[in-house]
Order: sequence, then structure tokens, then C-alpha cells
Amino acid sequence: MTIFLKFIKYLPPELAHSLSLISLKILHNLLILKFFYKKPKPKPFSFLNLSFNNKLGTAAGLDKNGDYIDCLGALGFGFLEVGTVTPLPQNGNIKPRIFRVFDENAVINRLGFNNKGIDHLLNNLKNRSYDGIVGVNIGANKNSKDGQRIEDYLICINKIHKYADYITVNISSPNTPGLRDLQSAKNISQLIDRIDKEIKSLNYLKPIFLKISPDESQSTILNIVEKIDNSSFSGLIATNTTIEKTLLKNVIFHDIEGGLSGMPLFNKSTEMIAYIKTISPEIPIIGVGGVISNADYQAKLDAGANIVQLYTGFIIKGPSIINDILSK
Ligand SMILES: Cc1cc2nc3c(=O)[nH]c(=O)nc-3n(C[C@H](O)[C@H](O)[C@H](O)COP(=O)(O)O)c2cc1C
Repeated sequence: MTIFLKFIKYLPPELAHSLSLISLKILHNLLILKFFYKKPKPKPFSFLNLSFNNKLGTAAGLDKNGDYIDCLGALGFGFLEVGTVTPLPQNGNIKPRIFRVFDENAVINRLGFNNKGIDHLLNNLKNRSYDGIVGVNIGANKNSKDGQRIEDYLICINKIHKYADYITVNISSPNTPGLRDLQSAKNISQLIDRIDKEIKSLNYLKPIFLKISPDESQSTILNIVEKIDNSSFSGLIATNTTIEKTLLKNVIFHDIEGGLSGMPLFNKSTEMIAYIKTISPEIPIIGVGGVISNADYQAKLDAGANIVQLYTGFIIKGPSIINDILSK
């Protein structure tokens, strides 16, 4: 595994990502994975009426189309979040659009919701063998403007609500122009009200989360939390990537467009969790941002997260990060 990780470091990031996931899938399908990968022991618990194997899951973006649900599940994650998926397939931004900063355990991405569309993901959800929790993260197509953006979320909810264990409404990606504006006081009420009505009419009773950006002001967060508390939404995912690239020591990366994830994001996203808890002590939170070690994972829980996700740590350390975090 270590040799493989050293090798793929030299490949372009997206090729490295695909090659790793395809290799994992092949090993899993040939039933070889279980011979040289030892899953962490399950630590079952219940959260929002769902039964989780443990508190560590994958963050959105790692498996955008749900093509790798069974093999990622076989690694022993407590839950998986697939997506972001949009109603229509789209290619995303032009390459290069992922930049790894190995020295600082960080990544900058400006993928722009490249995905195969909701129907493809729905098919994968229906055909999964993994019996753990799978959440679906939904977004709006790049070409959808104004009111159509909200319609895009409703289209996705309608299509996947029977097959997702929870739904995440992602309005915090920095790579779809204008998407983060949905967090503003004016837009958030409209978004939450429309989604509220929709999930009531569908009789959807499973959890639904809103994924927020770490770059919003405290007053914007306060407003979002108040709206969530008075809605059918279950809670928040804090946080998405940050556009504050000056958190990186290496100035060469400061002007690269995109969202920063990994270690430099850790403090900012953890402080956001702690702030949300001061406003609404009981609000359910999925904590994400810069988890690279067991100490980071514990710190997210201590700040008030109920469960934790990671992405960049998995890219940098590979599957061994799961046991590193969960075996302590
Ligand atoms: C390459 C890449 C792609 C991502 N794609 C998505 C996405 O499609 N939807 C989303 O909500 N977050 C996406 N994220 C953000 C992650 O889900 C997560 O919120 C963020 O990276 C912070 O966690 P980390 O530091 O553990 O990576 C992406 C992150 C990376 C690095």
C-alpha cells in the first residue's frame, strides 16, 4: 500500500484518484481486499434514528457518482456520503483543477461539480450491496440560474429520497459561481421553505443536512442556524472547503483559484462547529475539515460534532487512516 501511495503521488491528481478507486474496486470484487486489509472493529451507535458502524465517514466529493460504494464500505467507514450530484450530468471546470500540497497535507480543488447526473447515481444506490449508511449530497447545475437552482435541489430530492439514508443540501461549494449566495439571509429562507414543503409532501422522514461554508460571517451563520432550528432540516455539515488560501504557508499556492481542504482548514472548520454549538447546543452536526489524525477526529467530536467525515486525509494517507483514527 505504501509503495502504491508513493507511486501515485507522481501522477496527475485526477488520474491518481481514479486509479486508486478503480484498484480498490477490483481488489474488492476479486475478494482479495479482505486478505490484506483489516477493517476496524465496529463501534455501533445510533444517531437521528440511523444505525452507524462507527463515527467516521467519507466526505462528499470522494465518490461523486456512487461508483465505489461497495468497495469504500468494505474499508470499514461508519458511513459514506456520495455526490455532489446535480440533476443533469456536467463536465465541471477545465483541467488542471486539483492541486495537491503534500508538504502541508492540503489540496486545492476547483472541480465545479463534475458528475454523471442524478439518474446514474440513483442506479448505483439501488444496486448497492453495502448495508451501511449512505448519504447523498445534492447540488445545482452550473447553468441553472436564480429560481432554477432551488428547483434543481427539489428534482434531486424527489429522485433519491427513497434510496438515500440521509440527504445533504450543498450550497457551499466555492466552484459553482453564485452557489454560496444561497447562504445569504434573503435566499436561505426561500431555499429552506421550498425544501421543507417538498420533504413534507413526500413524507420524507430521514435526516436532511445543510452543508455550509467556513467563510461566512458569524451573523450569516447565526441566521442559518435559526432557520434550520425552525425547519424540517436535521442539522448542519460544517464545513466545506475555504477560499482563504493564505492559510497555506507556501505562497505559491495563494493565488490558485478553488477551495482549500486538509490540515490548513482544520482550525477554521472546527471553530465553526464550536460557534454553532454556542448558538444552538442541541443541533446535530457532521464535522468535516482537516481531519488527518485521531487527535483531529477527537477534537471535532469535542467541539460538538456528532459524527465526522474526511476526504483530504484519505487522499494523503490512504486507507490506513481509517484504522489510525478508529483503533485508538
Ligand atoms: C477534490 C475534492 C472534491 C470535493 N468535492 C465536493 C463535492 O462535490 N461536494 C461537497 O459538498 N464537498 C466537496 N468537497 C469538500 C469535502 O467534502 C470536505 O468538505 C472538505 O474537503 C473538507 O474536508 P477535508 O479537509 O477532510 O478534505 C471536495 C473536496 C475535495 C478535496
